[in-house]
Amino acid sequence: MSDVILEMRNITKTFPGVKALDNVSFSVRQGEIHALVGENGAGKSTLMKVLSGVYPHGTYEGDIFFEGKECRFRDINDSEKVGLVIIHQELALIPFLSITENLFLGNEQATSGVIDWNKSISMTKELLEKVGLHESPNTLITDMGVGKQQLVEIAKALAKEVKLLILDEPTASLSEGDSEKLLELLLQLKAQGISSVLISHKLSEVSKVADSITILRDGAAIETLDCQKDTITEDRIIRGMVGRDMTHRFPPRESNIGDTIFEVRDWNVYHPLHEDRKVSTNINIKVRKGEVVGIAGLMGAGRTELAMSIFGRAYGTRISGTAYKHGKEIDISSIDKAIANGVSYLTEDRKAYGLVLIEEIKNNITLTNLEAISDARFIINEPKEMTVTSEYKDKLNIKCSSILQLAVNLSGGNQQKVVLSKWLFSNPDILILDEPTRGIDVGAKYEIYTIINRLAAEGKGIILISSELPEILGVCDRIYVMREGKIVGELPASEASQEAVMKYIMTQEVAV
Ligand SMILES: Nc1ncnc2c1ncn2[C@@H]1O[C@H](COP(=O)(O)OP(=O)(O)OP(=O)(O)O)[C@@H](O)[C@H]1O
Ligand SMILES: [Mg+2]
Repeated sequence: MSDVILEMRNITKTFPGVKALDNVSFSVRQGEIHALVGENGAGKSTLMKVLSGVYPHGTYEGDIFFEGKECRFRDINDSEKVGLVIIHQELALIPFLSITENLFLGNEQATSGVIDWNKSISMTKELLEKVGLHESPNTLITDMGVGKQQLVEIAKALAKEVKLLILDEPTASLSEGDSEKLLELLLQLKAQGISSVLISHKLSEVSKVADSITILRDGAAIETLDCQKDTITEDRIIRGMVGRDMTHRFPPRESNIGDTIFEVRDWNVYHPLHEDRKVSTNINIKVRKGEVVGIAGLMGAGRTELAMSIFGRAYGTRISGTAYKHGKEIDISSIDKAIANGVSYLTEDRKAYGLVLIEEIKNNITLTNLEAISDARFIINEPKEMTVTSEYKDKLNIKCSSILQLAVNLSGGNQQKVVLSKWLFSNPDILILDEPTRGIDVGAKYEIYTIINRLAAEGKGIILISSELPEILGVCDRIYVMREGKIVGELPASEASQEAVMKYIMTQEVAV
């Protein structure tokens, strides 16, 4: 076919103990948005890393043709030269450099070895205009939210004259509004003839923008759906991904709610760098035994800051307020003390805060409770460590060659399951989960909801922070809504609906 821009033929890629891709063929038509979907560990990121030269020619089997020419990329620079640009699952911008510095990093606009800043800045302005980002070229990356950072990544790709843009879960950490903007941008780029490959677990957006959808399962390409010919429903995609119908997205649960187990009163937190900026204001929240409490809000509403400040003052300064467990005041002023009091917090940023990436899965899981696997002389009993961590591997269905595999080599979703295992191993009474299903496939989400239900049935108190409203509505007994560092609403599940929660999120006046 002449309109095919990319063709990958019979790609096989093995890692020690894992066949990540098994004879996969994949092609993209000129000017289309081609979605790549599949469960965690299916091989999506690996396929795109093979394509972009992260795994160079010679480390995989099979052939790659781009615009009809065979490609044997030695590294990512080689693939960028022909117009293939990949934006990885985890963003790769330098936080303390400006937008301009990031855009032209490694691609500096220089004459006779001297950087031409005037040219760089005016080019930055043009690129920012193209992606619809209204920021000064001098803004530091660290001062922007993830949504804007994602747009900078795309601007960076455009600076390189991209023909095929590969986005690995670009909207995983974006708010709904930012995701929509990004998808809109993809459609605009498509109109200019730029093709893209979109990896995403958010099937609703996939069915909205994709022209074709290729489904990977266990390292094999199962099928490619043509969205122009057929209307593709989310359920249809899921069937291809998991190999069966999934009728329910949320497991059923009978709530059995007891007395208040954990409470935070008059909680105030200030920004760690700007000490007069308040990030949490007079927060009063509680969770009861067996209850799942949601905290809804937009990105930037201050939910993570609140949760981290509660968890051993891991965030913020000038923190005031009191925490109670079973009605008695407790000291949670350090992370050790918080854990000792049965409070745990699963971070939204697994790579930066959740994992020791260069350690084995096993060592990551036991980190929160080394006593449980040590003998009286504080020596780790390794066989015991192997046994208990293997149980988590089975229970949470962690896809890995063995629990001795390094965390860095796991797929994103499986890394998340390791972080969750780690906190379950600390045997907490109160579990604060911050975006626990980010980057997680539909089947594994269901598994995580089942675990949440089980923990609630065991009498634990769960606080669930999530940007996905359907998830909050599907799992929680009660919902707090946060905006600008304040609790602006509280709803029992029976009164909660998307509209009711959105009303609190968007209303300007503080409601309570
Ligand atoms: N560097 C590596 N060393 C060993 N195994 C690896 C490595 N990279 C990936 N794998 C394994 O290859 C398989 C495919 O991983 P990949 O990251 O491509 O999955 P994915 O489809 O992108 O999943 P997710 O949706 O969770 O991001 C997984 O089983 C993973 O553990
Ligand atoms: Mg991936």
